[in-house]
Amino acid sequence: MQSSEIRQKFLAFFEARGHTVVPSSSLIPDDPSVLLTTAGMQQFKPYYTGDADPVKDFKSLNTVSVQKSFRTSDIDEVGDETHLTFFEMLGNFSFGGYFKEEAITYGHDFITQELGLAISYVTVFKGSDAVPKDTESENIWKSLGVADVREEGMEDVFWGPTGASGPCGPTTEIYCTNANGKDVEIWNIVFNEFLCNGSREQLLAGNAKLIPLEKKGIDTGMGLERLAMISQNKKNIFETDLFAPIVENIDIRASGRNSEKGKRIIADHARAITFLLADGVRPSNKGVGYVLRRLMRRLIIYGVQDALLFDTVIDSYKDFYEELNDENNRDEIIRVAANEYGKFGSTLGRGLNELRRIGEVDAKMAFKLYESFGLPYEMIKDFDDGKNAKNLTREAFDEEFRKHQEISRAGATAKFGGHGLYMKTGEVTIRDESEVEKVTRLHTATHLMHAALRAVLGPEVRQDGSDITVERTRFDFRFGRKVAPEELKKVEEWVNDAISRDLKVEYKEMAYEEALVEGALGFFKEKYPPRVKVYTMFDPKTGEIFSKEFCGGPHVGHTGEVGRFRIVKEESSSAGVRRIRGVVE
Ligand code: SER
Repeated sequence: MQSSEIRQKFLAFFEARGHTVVPSSSLIPDDPSVLLTTAGMQQFKPYYTGDADPVKDFKSLNTVSVQKSFRTSDIDEVGDETHLTFFEMLGNFSFGGYFKEEAITYGHDFITQELGLAISYVTVFKGSDAVPKDTESENIWKSLGVADVREEGMEDVFWGPTGASGPCGPTTEIYCTNANGKDVEIWNIVFNEFLCNGSREQLLAGNAKLIPLEKKGIDTGMGLERLAMISQNKKNIFETDLFAPIVENIDIRASGRNSEKGKRIIADHARAITFLLADGVRPSNKGVGYVLRRLMRRLIIYGVQDALLFDTVIDSYKDFYEELNDENNRDEIIRVAANEYGKFGSTLGRGLNELRRIGEVDAKMAFKLYESFGLPYEMIKDFDDGKNAKNLTREAFDEEFRKHQEISRAGATAKFGGHGLYMKTGEVTIRDESEVEKVTRLHTATHLMHAALRAVLGPEVRQDGSDITVERTRFDFRFGRKVAPEELKKVEEWVNDAISRDLKVEYKEMAYEEALVEGALGFFKEKYPPRVKVYTMFDPKTGEIFSKEFCGGPHVGHTGEVGRFRIVKEESSSAGVRRIRGVVE
């Protein structure tokens, strides 16, 4: 079955069973605590928690969608049979409408009857200290004639929460067999029974609470690419009709890296780049812009940053995704890609020549290449099918990074009198220690203002830089127009409301990639360290997160210490960038 037919059948199947069809949301979510949309349920988070009313918005308790999704966590796996960065997720959702019996039966019937495929086996939750074993699901599967029901634990069959907190619960997964005889997980059916007051990491470490949800919910996710692989009886996702036309158009003979894996990586990245650009992301050195830049650079080393490739992607998807069926958008995608090529092509080329000249590199040399030419780890690892980096590991490369970071930090500490300020964010400028308290308050206010701007003007607001002195904070951000006085007032009110709620301010150290996946907002230079600090400002009573950003600190412990925040000026800083100055009183 062609993938376009699978999409239509999926939507029609659930529409006929009382679900409202909802279009995919953007890859850039509304939820400021998440960097990218990683699942279909993200746009529905408030309906699970009771913060929004599904009947009012969808005229139904149930919805269905085909969601554009992106997972940075799988980036190192891309090139194998089943992993991708960008993918399409088919999902049906219920917010207090139906639960296990219907959800499992729908899943079973869609796979076996509608698509005529066989289920190899399913998994159910085996139970933990906090949540009992899911015998109900096991019994439902058995009553439907699926005999092979396997038990798994928290790591595998317990979903969520996405972001800093949110709905979560046990899951049941459906596995089918591909043309290689390999069992592949295709569908994850989540029973959202709880609200978790912390992140997934905190939950797994036993540091977060599960609060039973008033209305239980269903959230399911099925990868279209994997389903097409099963339905079209292919050995891997790249042989399906979703990828074959793209892969066919990739010619990397000239790069000297003409491997099948290389072609797969290019096909994945070309699709991801196209969709990120179409949703308004532009290459930069921070946050999601940096994710995009890394994908683009990887294509550049294969020498395939060309219009033909993007045209093929656009042609394959423009019937279903309106944003690609737009000439202006197409031209802009190709223009930005060419521009990035122009900017980095020659530096990267010199870097790769240097790598070729050196031959085998160790972690130290690899890091030097990164520093001098911007060659990221994965590029060095990929180059010439890995010939120059046989013994290089990500851990060793990250270790070099950390060492480098410590040296810069030691320098900063010495320079600024050893009060623990970490100057590398470029946000704080302090002349002597007596000023620390004031700039610390301003620094916390700056994070709140960033969150407020995104809440009032929309998630397209992107920090471009900031500078804090003892008198004021100055914050630059990408935004296409002047901010109206009423909007500035709203931003001020948002910040002062957050201050008066006396939010708790906490930080956690984590791996950079993990922080991205957790959705921390990043204002970051290219040289990100392997471990970063992420500051969160949250209401200790409800767990609600107001702000979550990469940052070296320092910040106040409670937002009540900030005082009253006031915006004193809004102006243009450069093309497409606005500048706001604010004070605390
Ligand atoms: N949220 C779950 C997942 O992404 C089911 O949609 O796997």
